[in-house]
Amino acid sequence: MKLELATPADAPAMASAHAQAFDTPWDEMDFEDLLEGAGIFGFVVRDEDPAGVLVCRTVAGEAEILTVGVAPWARRRGVGQALMVAAIGVAREAGAGEMFLEVDVANAGAVALYERLGFARAGLRKAYYDRGANGRADALVMRLDLTTRPD
Ligand SMILES: CC(C)(COP(=O)(O)OP(=O)(O)OC[C@H]1O[C@@H](n2cnc3c(N)ncnc32)[C@H](O)[C@@H]1OP(=O)(O)O)[C@@H](O)C(=O)NCCC(=O)NCCS
Repeated sequence: MKLELATPADAPAMASAHAQAFDTPWDEMDFEDLLEGAGIFGFVVRDEDPAGVLVCRTVAGEAEILTVGVAPWARRRGVGQALMVAAIGVAREAGAGEMFLEVDVANAGAVALYERLGFARAGLRKAYYDRGANGRADALVMRLDLTTRPD
């Protein structure tokens, strides 16, 4: 497994990893456009195939995880955690004091990963996700203080 800071040339690999991780994937153009945006950075993890992807935005001292996903075949091998740790490092270097993300309240695996990294529950957005025939789902807002360095 190899984790790299992404450039727009990595958009196809990022889209591939995203399509494996999510039911509603973002396409190559989405990733190209995102990576050209101000304050945006991303990572891609490759094994033989694209295995994981993360995109983060830092604005005015706040970092936000826009997406993080790992292909099912690559899960529970530390890829998600490695992506998050890498993003936390870059966000800190960029001067961000806090990091936010939103996660489906029912996504226990992802919530466990974020709590393990020190994220705390900061709020709830009711009916945030549109799950089509399954109705709407609430999002948990989670926050990590980047000014204290956990050891
Ligand atoms: C959530 C996700 C990114 C985790 O990626 P991953 O590479 O499997 O995570 P890691 O292997 O780095 O997990 C690190 C730790 O997080 C916790 N964790 C991760 N997935 C978990 C799960 N399904 N159930 C319980 N704990 C989990 C565990 O503590 C795990 O450590 P362990 O394997 O030693 O027990 C991945 O499952 C995924 O892409 N899911 C679909 C998309 C998604 O939900 N993205 C997040 C949207 S906010």
